[in-house]
Amino acid sequence: MAKKPVLNLILMGPPGAGKGTQAKMLVEKYGIPQISTGDLLRAAIASGSELGSKVQSYVTSGGLVPDELVLDILLNRLAEKDCQAGFILDGFPRTVGQAGSLGKALTAKKMEMAAAIAITVADSELLDRLTGRRICKGCSSSFHVKFSPPKKDGVCDRCGGELQQRKDDTAEVISHRLHVYHEQTQPLIEYYRKAKIMHLVDGIGQIDVIFQNICAIIESLKGLDSTQVKG
Ligand code: AP5
Repeated sequence: MAKKPVLNLILMGPPGAGKGTQAKMLVEKYGIPQISTGDLLRAAIASGSELGSKVQSYVTSGGLVPDELVLDILLNRLAEKDCQAGFILDGFPRTVGQAGSLGKALTAKKMEMAAAIAITVADSELLDRLTGRRICKGCSSSFHVKFSPPKKDGVCDRCGGELQQRKDDTAEVISHRLHVYHEQTQPLIEYYRKAKIMHLVDGIGQIDVIFQNICAIIESLKGLDSTQVKG
């Protein structure tokens, strides 16, 4: 018997578009995991593992980690049990090569992507968003000094942990990340348009309104198990 289609999503967009912010809200609503390759790579670096030392220079300079390394990490994560009912890919794929490998891996498991959702934001907005971002050391919650400040300066509202700035959130590295995005990742919009699963969402405006627009796309997807899309 054919497997029921599940809520396998790709969340795309330039650095600072709000992928992580929206993915966390989708996790709460739909109960499927967020798989952020950026988070997985930063965790590998923080653990001091061999993999972490291989990827560190790419992540801190804003370049892309070689496809084979990131693919390995991603496929291991997708094999975990909590991904069976669906997942949100945040920051993967980032190259046409990664998209091809993902497609092959899913086909081998008789799975497919339900949608690729790209959050669009002009580059001019992104510098402010990223230089003002602060991440909790304890629970990874994300804040912004102007747009979503914590109640107490430097302290996480959720767990009381210390807030810190990401090493790649400096003006110079952000400019390189944007260049890499336009050159290597933006072509995926056309790639998934051809696959007829591409949806664009305006990423400027209130976070809640953008979230509602993303949910409306998800709820319009045909063929999905209706108990999933009701959240
Ligand atoms: P990754 O961690 O994926 O970083 P990124 O893609 O650059 O995206 P960000 O996490 O910076 O931004 P976001 O879109 O999640 O925005 P957020 O919601 O936080 O990757 C880091 C690095 O890892 C890469 O450079 C690369 O080296 C490596 N890597 C990762 N994946 C890879 C792959 N597949 N292949 C190869 N290498 C890979 O929001 C940003 C800020 O804006 C926050 O402060 C937030 O509060 C605020 N904000 C959010 N929405 C709004 C809004 N609507 N209005 C105002 N402010 C908002």
